[in-house]
Amino acid sequence: MKRLLLFLLFISTLAISCKNKQKYLFEDNIIPKPSEVIVHHGELNVEDEIYIIINENCEGASKVKNYTMEFLSRSYKVDDVPEKQQNGTNIFLSIAGEGNPESYKLTISELGIEIVSPGYAGLFMGFQTLRHLFPPEIEGGKKLENVKLPYIEISDEPRFKYRGMHLDVCRHFFSVEDVKSYIDMLAMHKFNVLHWHLTDDQGWRIEIKAFPELTKISSMRKETVVKQNWGEYDGIPYGGYYTQDEIREIVKYAEDRFIMVIPEIEMPGHSLAALAAFPELGCTGGPYEVGTTWGVFDDVFCAGNDKTFEFLEQVIDEVCMLFPNSPFIHIGGDECPKTRWENCPKCQKRMQEEGLSDEHELQSYFIQRLEKYINSKGKRIIGWDEILEGGLAPDATVMSWRGTSGGIAAAQMGHDAILTPGEYCYFDHYQSLDKENEPLAIGGFTNCEKIYGWNPVPDSLTSEQAKHIIGVQANVWTEYIADFAHIQYMVLPRMAALSEVAWSKERDSSYSDFKKRLQAMYIRYENAGYNYARHEEE
Ligand code: ACM
Ligand code: ZN
Repeated sequence: MKRLLLFLLFISTLAISCKNKQKYLFEDNIIPKPSEVIVHHGELNVEDEIYIIINENCEGASKVKNYTMEFLSRSYKVDDVPEKQQNGTNIFLSIAGEGNPESYKLTISELGIEIVSPGYAGLFMGFQTLRHLFPPEIEGGKKLENVKLPYIEISDEPRFKYRGMHLDVCRHFFSVEDVKSYIDMLAMHKFNVLHWHLTDDQGWRIEIKAFPELTKISSMRKETVVKQNWGEYDGIPYGGYYTQDEIREIVKYAEDRFIMVIPEIEMPGHSLAALAAFPELGCTGGPYEVGTTWGVFDDVFCAGNDKTFEFLEQVIDEVCMLFPNSPFIHIGGDECPKTRWENCPKCQKRMQEEGLSDEHELQSYFIQRLEKYINSKGKRIIGWDEILEGGLAPDATVMSWRGTSGGIAAAQMGHDAILTPGEYCYFDHYQSLDKENEPLAIGGFTNCEKIYGWNPVPDSLTSEQAKHIIGVQANVWTEYIADFAHIQYMVLPRMAALSEVAWSKERDSSYSDFKKRLQAMYIRYENAGYNYARHEEE
């Protein structure tokens, strides 16, 4: 009897492991989890030659086609052809139907591979799913042979239209190649927004032709505080910026991957680097130095000086030109101490003239004045949730970072909101409680399980109000992240967990199911050459 039991146990273990292996290869490889997956009996042999057939000829179609061909050509011989080929494997990309332009249907059958979507973005998303069905070696661009794909039907669409990843390039600077690699990581996880934090106290990183001082002076700090030892400095000048050509190159690279780049130009706070070049725009007149430590600084743009607005409007003119396809400009708005304004005759005069009862209303005046200008350029503003204080600008989208209350308030007022609360979305936090064995982080604790269990739509909202929660975003502040391998470590695999929160409609909240699929993603990261955190590795 005991023997029989052992034998049965052996057989069932074998059955489970075979089943896992089979599942592991196919639909359970996909992160974020699609809405609907039907696996049929049978497999498609992928031939050595792949043909891409797209039923349209326009900019959107060529973006999808070029990306698809470039990606696959690392592992296969690939060609684009007008119609079905007898030899080789056909990938049909078709625009058809109506609905969410990011939705898609992916079918693999004896006829080949077909992705259908109402929009080019959907074809791109469908291809990302197909990519996850290929063996992970495809990530490293290895030549592939004898690949079999399951006969499968996947119908999928995103839960949120805004799925963002932020990158702070001010506290530490990252090269054009790094930013492109970051964009590739976004694409792999079906994120569609890069929020590019381009100006802050410790560095101004975007070339503005009207003000060459910004790149000459504001992009450089004389040294940097060592770790968290305030008062101890490394004595090494540090800087960097993107030329306008480089900005255009990155924006195009992102657009080719259906990712919108939203630039952030911080105001009225976090502006010390700009003040270092233009001290007349600060309340005291300076002198100022580009920040060498982290935190919040009292010196901010003077709200009483019309020159401040003239300066920012000229900056915005060039920013609008460099980001023609982003409907948004992020104007910061966070962490602006009111100390200088309280003691500045110009700021106080402005408050009197405008009938503003306190400095919070002065901040609101500042943001609304810039909003009006940005609206006149055909764009809208996003601001951190402090822009609610003193009165919200009429058309602003609120990015809720101090918890979700800012997002809730905005949605209740009929404004759109993006949720990026510190507890779940700050990827500069530690991801393990064993902090001693982690690279230095800003603090906190945000691991995959916590992110995965987060429901971003607050229960307190009515269904109408909930529609104003347009999406979620993770933020990567780089005070303690000096190189790109470290960025990768901080976002992988947390990005995978957030991608399911952002994308997956029919998310069953089983973390163990996600964790199982994450194992396959780890192999993908490995093959892509990414540096990733392994806390969830089994
Ligand atoms: C922020 O973290 N200061 C938006
Ligand atoms: Zn002032």
